[in-house]
Amino acid sequence: VRVAVCPVEELAVGSRRIVTAGEGGIGVFNVDGKLYALANRCPHAGGPLCRGVLTGTTEPGTGHEVRWVREGRVLRCPWHSWEFDIATGRTLTKPTVATKTFSVVVEDGTIYVEV
Ligand code: FES
Repeated sequence: VRVAVCPVEELAVGSRRIVTAGEGGIGVFNVDGKLYALANRCPHAGGPLCRGVLTGTTEPGTGHEVRWVREGRVLRCPWHSWEFDIATGRTLTKPTVATKTFSVVVEDGTIYVEV
């Protein structure tokens, strides 16, 4: 089933929309001009994942250093801060766990998700 999200010009780079579809909705994100859609349901405890901040994360550097990486590509759940790759829906710390992702298409100036 195809669900209309909004006209393409209404989803600017860096913005998101949460549409009523699936269980708890689906979040559609414009990240640097690329569109991603994820279930608004965190696999940890069912939190509203797509209302979380889109940020980066840390990873070990050399020695005692910590590096900031993946800026703008990590979705952090607002309930307990689990972090997810915006493109794959997988958690960063346990990649076997993921939230569902959906295909996004743009047709005649409208964004749709395939549910
Ligand atoms: S419900 Fe998302 S981290 Fe717990």
